[in-house]
Amino acid sequence: MSDQPPVAQLAAATLSDAAVVPKHEFSDRVPIRSILGRPDGGSALAGQRARVGGWVKTGRKQGSGSFAFLEVNDGSCPMNLQVIVDSAVADLGLLVPTGTCVALEGVLKAPPEGTKQKIELRVEEVVHVGPVDPAKYPLPKTKLTLEFLRDVVHLRPKTNTISAVARIRNALAYATHTFFQKHGFLYVHTPIITTSDCEGAGEMFQVTTLINEADKVEKELIKNPPPSEAEIEAAKLLVKEKGEAVAQLKSAKASKADITASVAELTKAKEKLSKLEERFKLKPGIPQKDGKIDYDHDFFARQAFLTVSGQLQVETYACAVSSVYTFGPTFRAEQSHTSRHLAEFWMVEPEIAFADLKDDMNCAEAYVRFLCSWLLDNCLDDMEFMAKNFDKTCIDRLRMVASTPFERISYTEAVEILVDSVKGGKQFENKVEWGIDLASEHERYLTEVKFQKPVIVYNYPKGIKAFYMRLNDDSKTVAAMDVLVPKVGELIGGSQREERYDVIRDRILEMGLPLDPYEWYLDLRRYGTVKHCGFGLGFERMILFATGIDNIRDVIPFPRYPGRADL
Ligand code: 4AD
Ligand code: MG
Repeated sequence: MSDQPPVAQLAAATLSDAAVVPKHEFSDRVPIRSILGRPDGGSALAGQRARVGGWVKTGRKQGSGSFAFLEVNDGSCPMNLQVIVDSAVADLGLLVPTGTCVALEGVLKAPPEGTKQKIELRVEEVVHVGPVDPAKYPLPKTKLTLEFLRDVVHLRPKTNTISAVARIRNALAYATHTFFQKHGFLYVHTPIITTSDCEGAGEMFQVTTLINEADKVEKELIKNPPPSEAEIEAAKLLVKEKGEAVAQLKSAKASKADITASVAELTKAKEKLSKLEERFKLKPGIPQKDGKIDYDHDFFARQAFLTVSGQLQVETYACAVSSVYTFGPTFRAEQSHTSRHLAEFWMVEPEIAFADLKDDMNCAEAYVRFLCSWLLDNCLDDMEFMAKNFDKTCIDRLRMVASTPFERISYTEAVEILVDSVKGGKQFENKVEWGIDLASEHERYLTEVKFQKPVIVYNYPKGIKAFYMRLNDDSKTVAAMDVLVPKVGELIGGSQREERYDVIRDRILEMGLPLDPYEWYLDLRRYGTVKHCGFGLGFERMILFATGIDNIRDVIPFPRYPGRADL
């Protein structure tokens, strides 16, 4: 630990304007961001000693091999630090291959006039080298496609793009907690394993140990075959004989020692029999009862799944402590091969008591706009990288969203707009009429073409939405809302929840769902019910929207989709 806490150090540095290289509290090097991320690009640090660590992006020997230039990146920022190493200091051949890990100590110097760097490091000591054989390194220096990188998911964080996405993702997570904490929401951890189906769409992954148990039994039975009926009979006979022996000794008033010994033999015979009987009952395969899988034998003694949403569980807290949110992984076993769907994705789900659909929309809008401002304020260097390499308009889009109120239209109005556009010559693959679930092409038309800004569509037909959404007075629509944004389409899905006991009970039955599993959910309406609402923001969709990257598989560290779950 340094003598002073780092914040105090930084404050002191700002006050006296004396530029110092701040130390990293938990490692023995300086993050490159603390040098190059300064407003002066690091120039005021010239003359100071620094130790940096990172991986070589490019390295080249110069001056007939008398020195080498290395571009070093440690992931703390998109910029590389340029370092110069003399051949007297180290074997340059070992340092220059792309991907080599280096820890280097030296003095920061102003580079010659006319170079784009504001500061560079003259190396005096090479503290560590993690070498790379360039002939074998799986990330060639040529420009790599994101698709190629999905096949080297364990090495792709070493690329500029994936590390920039990681920093943007991190910033959005931090911004999410900041936003909700600032507004007095309590962070609640909802379960990942659940026995309730929130969306009722039948897209759940099952969690079971029945299969591994069946495998285990099968292997065990091959190694150690079960006893035959004859063996069981013999063991039963032995128990009988031993029992009779004990009885005989007792009636003959034999010595206590003899009786004890005989009882011990009986106990042993009984134990052996029970073990044999247990093994005799072992059957290969998944246990069945009445022709169905017998979940009594499963780990939780009932069917269990990976959650598709933390909403139902987080509602239990909203109906007790008012404003809450959950932020965690969710899982959907849908066979979607689109660039917007993952089988494992993260969702941010606030839930607000004493609040209606309008409050829900206000919260969703404020939250998305806060995220956009946050990236502009805290991640501009990474956003500039994205603008340069992926989507020229991404920074403008963030600015626009941060500063423009969202359009709000009812589902009925949305359908009218779409029908009008078709009349005007616009072609959609999916037919537009009242009652359809809006397809991605419709959503994107509304937000990208018609309004050219985020659009909130509310009051959807009840037939296409989940059972928990509040029935409107027209009995045809529910108080649902989706936030649609350019580039992505649906970013958020939410609703006011049905708080009236009789109505939600009827809705569950009307949708053909069993009441029993939802009794606990109905209790929230039976005891102290309250008007409440919430929504779910697809975290990866937000990153797509921010960065302009095309495929959702490239904005989550370890993408899971049909046919693929690496690492
Ligand atoms: O609209 P959805 O299904 O809403 C719910 O799950 C509600 N229970 C949320 C709530 O009210 N608390 O999903 C919410 C968001 C979608 O708008 C979308 O952004 C994202 O989650 N999403 C996906 N993201 C990636 N891959 C998938 N397969 C996704 N499915 C939904
Ligand atoms: Mg939805």
